[in-house]
Amino acid sequence: MTVQGKTRIGIIGAGPAGLLLSRLLKVHGIDSVILEARSRDYVEGRIRAGVLEQGTVTLLEEAGVADRLHREGLVHEGVELAEQGLRFRIDFRALTGKTVTVYGQTEITKDLIVASVADDSPICWEAGDVAIHDADTGQPRLTWRADGERHELACDFIAGCDGFHGVSRPSLPSSLRQTFERVYPFGWLGILADVPPCAEELIYASHERGFALASMRSRTRSRYYIQCGLEEKIEDWPDARIWEELKVRLGPQTAPHVVTGPSIEKSIAPLRSFVSTPMQYGRLFLAGDAAHIVPPTGAKGLNLAVSDVHYLCRALVAHYRSANDTLLATYSDAALARVWKAERFSWWMTGLLHKLHDQASFEARMQHAELEYLAGSPAAQTVLAENYVGLPL
Ligand code: FAD
Ligand code: PHB
Repeated sequence: MTVQGKTRIGIIGAGPAGLLLSRLLKVHGIDSVILEARSRDYVEGRIRAGVLEQGTVTLLEEAGVADRLHREGLVHEGVELAEQGLRFRIDFRALTGKTVTVYGQTEITKDLIVASVADDSPICWEAGDVAIHDADTGQPRLTWRADGERHELACDFIAGCDGFHGVSRPSLPSSLRQTFERVYPFGWLGILADVPPCAEELIYASHERGFALASMRSRTRSRYYIQCGLEEKIEDWPDARIWEELKVRLGPQTAPHVVTGPSIEKSIAPLRSFVSTPMQYGRLFLAGDAAHIVPPTGAKGLNLAVSDVHYLCRALVAHYRSANDTLLATYSDAALARVWKAERFSWWMTGLLHKLHDQASFEARMQHAELEYLAGSPAAQTVLAENYVGLPL
């Protein structure tokens, strides 16, 4: 027995891209169904990004899910960069007139799920074996298994929002797909703890032992990262060792302000730059990590997923409101134009701040020279600031 259904937009993945797309479509009166491989608890518990561009906040406002964000989110007007004795601030507000907001991806996900449940937008949790059919026809379909039954959903369009490991990207014919990739020879070890942050703003620190980042989720919850080897195991990093290493890398000016405490979460994530083109095949459209990955150094991953959703939603609304498919036809080009710029920025920030070379090498001197230049040049600081706060949509 197959359970049959029909919707306008079939969305694969209940990450930020899929949930926000569904919500924005709802605001425009367009119905959708989300299929998610994992359980709601799992999706709500995943710890990921934390820095939102102003454009991301605006889109969450348009989606009607920004009340808690405005109550609990922290507006940051700058970040600090540090390298051994050097520590300086990039003043976003002064250089660009814009700010960023610190509010966890986990919280955005929860807010979006609450909104979906409130307006009866269907999310099918724990959908197994999701498959895309007939994407290159006028009537694509999704099939999956749930509760021991096979399901089939006829759609007008399919949005592949299922992240890097999903089924959507491989559903594009490989003859049409081109991928561009850089895998970095190191990862980030992250720790989350209920301790106050060590500074008012984020600190990105370059150190001869490797990069460190002091971030936060709130005034009482800190998020720190250190660059680590890909072969490292989380078991080799008891909390005390992470705190010690963080203090060394953040430097003597910052170390006394680091408040330590038991970890709530610890994980190691590999770093990757990746773009798959095009982001469309027939009536299948990719958005977010399904199409591209950035290393987290520029805090762009979540923000890029949101900007893809902006372009896709706008195109779908034009289709239903005015029978105009120009924006659907140009979706991939419009999204990729912004994606490549964010890829460039994230790659550049990664190269600037991580330990990549022997300290005695020419390349290490170049990194140092670039940081010193940045410290003293408002022009260079403006380049960093305008990319960090987010390029225009
Ligand atoms: P995702 O959030 O990956 O959502 C995809 C969803 O699709 C998931 O819920 C997944 O379960 C579901 N799915 C997958 N396959 C299927 C399937 N076959 N069928 C149905 N559903 C499926 N960015 C930063 O800026 N800073 C960070 O610190 C940071 N940390 C990260 C840590 C990790 C471990 C990861 C993986 C990413 C991190 N990112 C970070 C990136 C950022 O979180 C992502 O860019 C963002 O989550 C992208 O959202 P998305 O909705 O496109 O994809
Ligand atoms: C985070 O708080 O998780 C975070 C902040 C900034 C980054 C990456 C991650 O560049």
